[in-house]
Order: sequence, then structure tokens, then C-alpha cells
Amino acid sequence: MKLFDVYPLQDITIDKARGAWVWDTAGRKYLDMYGGHAVISIGHTHPHYVKRVTAQLKKIGFYSNSVHMPIQEELAEKLGKVSGKPDFQLFLCNSGAEANENALKLASFATDRKKVVAFTGAFHGRTSLAVAATDNAKIVAPVNETDHIIRLPFNDTEALKQCFSKQGKEIAAVITEGIQGVGGIQVATDKFLQQIRKLCDTHGAVFIADSVQCGYGRSGRFFSHDFSGVRADIYSVAKGMGNGFPVAGILVAPHLKPWHGMLGTTFGGNPLACAAALAVLEVLENENLMENATAISKYLTDELSQFSGIREIRGQGLMIGLDMPAEMGSLRQELLSKQGVFTGEAKPNVIRLLPSLALTRQEAGVFLKKFGAAYQTIHKSILTQTGG
Ligand SMILES: Cc1ncc(COP(=O)(O)O)c(C=O)c1O
Repeated sequence: MKLFDVYPLQDITIDKARGAWVWDTAGRKYLDMYGGHAVISIGHTHPHYVKRVTAQLKKIGFYSNSVHMPIQEELAEKLGKVSGKPDFQLFLCNSGAEANENALKLASFATDRKKVVAFTGAFHGRTSLAVAATDNAKIVAPVNETDHIIRLPFNDTEALKQCFSKQGKEIAAVITEGIQGVGGIQVATDKFLQQIRKLCDTHGAVFIADSVQCGYGRSGRFFSHDFSGVRADIYSVAKGMGNGFPVAGILVAPHLKPWHGMLGTTFGGNPLACAAALAVLEVLENENLMENATAISKYLTDELSQFSGIREIRGQGLMIGLDMPAEMGSLRQELLSKQGVFTGEAKPNVIRLLPSLALTRQEAGVFLKKFGAAYQTIHKSILTQTGG
């Protein structure tokens, strides 16, 4: 059998990883400023993580949600504490799309309504309603098309107000990332998030904070939505939650009540996934990784702002977008092939930096040096082409 060929691949096979570094099968070392798409939160193969997951696997890897699992309660307790949401309830699942799908479903159950407000540039996953809420017609199959989604411009408080004044009684939920990732590292303004909170309160809708990419400490706060001082009704989390182990969830405000059978999953919240998620929170706390993300972010953005060719630097914490001019479009490939640095991308020309939150100042310095070298190469080749 062949693989179903849906991914455009780099011609690289990685078979070893430590901290912020990965190695390919030929022994070449790369600096990982991409974190496998914002997934590596505490660093690859962190010793505490490896120890905790291994110990759990030796004890019991899996049982279904038909029996008590104290490790789920331990995770809920710890997550409540570290995230600053101790009064919330936790539902565990396996991926970001599944978390958003459950969040939207829960909002609809709770309000008995069908409409969902989502924004331009949004990415919420590839399952049924999550993909409909995503702003990319190419990945919406005919079966996913629905008139339940109301698409509004991102960061536009006036459009929001008008929409609620017309359709407020039909709106079950508003869903937004605090920092759009796939959309090119676009930060939601405080005013925008505060307006969503206000309108949801007035009209009885549920505020869903998609924190799959921007959450779990990546922004320097546990949820990037925290910067605006608002409390959402549901936070969806995934990516950094398991540092590579597939685990996700929704944090649900106390006023949203469950009933037996309302949501469910076979694999979600299994003991092995919970052990991985607990190890991540322990390291996040013990090694002060949110503070580290803030400090390293400042160092990186201060230094990067000296490159006059970068059109704009956006983001918070270790979720940074470098908006490059079209003629520097090959910079990301130059970084990878010549300098051995993995970065992410967003259309049309944004380089996304999503490294481990444990990235050291020294490693950030290595990145800056390599970035400078790649930048100079591309810059020179542009001058040669234009005869400058
Ligand atoms: C903000 C956001 N939400 C949801 C998802 C979907 O997550 P998953 O790929 O785990 O389903 C992603 C993935 O990139 C994301 O960035």
C-alpha cells in the first residue's frame, strides 16, 4: 500500500531530536524554530517527559472512559491551576479539530441555536463544522458546506455589533483564535476580544477561544486571550498540550453543564495521553517556560527589527510572524537547506517562528546568526538580478 499523498514534503528524514534540535538520517543537525507546527512546547524528548510517559506505559497505556481514571482528575486539577482557570471543567479528546468540533457542539447544545460567528483568516481544523468555520474554501468539501457560519472581518468590532443587532437571537457561538496562526500571525486586539465578550453576554452566546496554536503558554501567557483581560466560556487546546503526544481538550466554564452522553470519545483522556500532558505542565511550571517565552521573544524581536527588509514583525511570545516582501520568498528555503533551520510558513510570505518554549538565549542567538546569513544571501541575489 502507498501513502495517501496529501502532504508536500521536504526531502528530509528526521530520526533524532533533543531540545530545540533535530537530526536527519545523514547526521545533519537542524535548529527547530518550527516545533513540528507549534507542537513541541517543552523541547523534544525532554527527560522528565520521557520518564513520565515511559513509566505510565509500563503501568497501563490505555483504558476507555468507562471506568474511573484518577490521572484525568490529576490533569484537570493541574491544568486548572497552571492555566488560571481552576473553576473550569475539562473534556479530553485527541486533536485540535476535535476540540473545536466539541466546543461548537457544546455551544449549540447549551443555547439551542445553530449560527456560529467565525472570522476572515481563521483556521479551526478540518472536521465538519471546524472546517466550515475555517476561512479556506479549498479544504471545505461539499458535504461540509453549511449556512450555519457567519463570516465577519477579523478585528472589526463594528461588523460584530451590526451582526449581533440583526441576528443576536440565532447565534450559538463566536469562535476566534487569540493570535491567528495559519492566517499569518495576526493578533486579535484587546478591544475586539472585549467586544466579543460583551456581545456574547448580552445575547446569550458562547465565546470559544481557539487556543490550539496560540495557547498553552506559547504567547507568554497561558492563553493569548488573557492579555485582553477577558474570560472565554470555552478554550480549545491541543498542539503544545502533549509535546507531540496526540492529546487535546476543551476547558469549559462552570455555567455550561454536562449531561451523560453529551460528548464522548474512545481514545480521549487515556492514561498515556494524560501522563504526557501532565509532564508538559510540570515542566512548563518548574522551568518557568512562559517567562522564558516572553524574554526570548523580546530578544528575538528586538534583534530582528534591525533587518530593514522585514515588512512587519507580528505576534506574542514564541509565536512570531515575519512578514517578508515577495522578492524574499526563497528565504525560508535558504534557511532550511543552507543554514539548517526549520521555520513555518503562512501565505503569502510570512515566516512563522514557533520554537519550543524552552529555547535558550544562546539558541536564539544561533538562529539570529543563521537568519542574518540567509538574509544576506537572498538580498545579494536580488541586487544581482536587479543590477543594483
Ligand atoms: C488555531 C488552530 N485550530 C485548530 C487546528 C486543528 O488542529 P489539528 O490539526 O490538531 O486538528 C489548528 C491546526 O493547525 C490550529 O492552528
